[in-house]
Amino acid sequence: MKNKKIIIANWKMNPNSLDKAKKLFSETKKVATKLKNTQTIICPPYIYLGSLVDKNISIGAQNTFSKNVGAYTGMISPDMLEDLGVEYVIIGHSERRLWETNEIVNKKIIEAMRSGLKVILCIGEKERDKEANYFHFLKEEILESLKGVSKNALKNIYIAYEPIWAISSNKGSAIDTGNLHEMVIFIKRVLSDKYGVNTKLPKILYGGSVNPKNTQELFTEGNTDGFLVGGASLDIKKFGEILKIADEI
Ligand code: PGA
Repeated sequence: MKNKKIIIANWKMNPNSLDKAKKLFSETKKVATKLKNTQTIICPPYIYLGSLVDKNISIGAQNTFSKNVGAYTGMISPDMLEDLGVEYVIIGHSERRLWETNEIVNKKIIEAMRSGLKVILCIGEKERDKEANYFHFLKEEILESLKGVSKNALKNIYIAYEPIWAISSNKGSAIDTGNLHEMVIFIKRVLSDKYGVNTKLPKILYGGSVNPKNTQELFTEGNTDGFLVGGASLDIKKFGEILKIADEI
């Protein structure tokens, strides 16, 4: 599975009933399980996870907490997710970072890895300023989020670069492929400066308005290992196409 492309469906707070979730899940699974070169990871809302866990397709949660058990009303722990059969967890999505600092993200990553979950760490700048301070911002996000994560643990980390301005629900549009390529190189550089040049680095994914029209170009020219797809993952026609295009590249 190592060199497969990774496509993650981030359903966010959708759909609004278990029946609809089951339908979307089985439609997605039908396409995803036919692919040869692509691994699909579906991330439904917490409350559907128990009903959807399936040994033929990878499942991820959209969030978790930084403690594993105890008096934390309303929280869901990494141990609970792992026990359900969830394999992945998205940590630090920009819609969560409204309340979460790098320090909180870091604590969640450490706890999730301790429970045996694979972590999809989201990073991304709010805007592209003329002075290019976003490079500094991203570097800090990466280094602070990965504090205490060993070189050996990197195999269980995926980095999803999701510039906030490119996310469809923010009325954004996808990054230009040349800029994406530049950011992928930058992220790899930050990681190899931290972990050493000969380190096997995490896969770098892109998220932000990925759709069937830009999939091919973002992949081939952007040089990513995969995508985190929000809005388009709720529409099986669009998501199915994204998966098929990715699989054929
Ligand atoms: P989008 O969302 O594909 O709808 O832009 C991506 C994300 O927020 O993960």
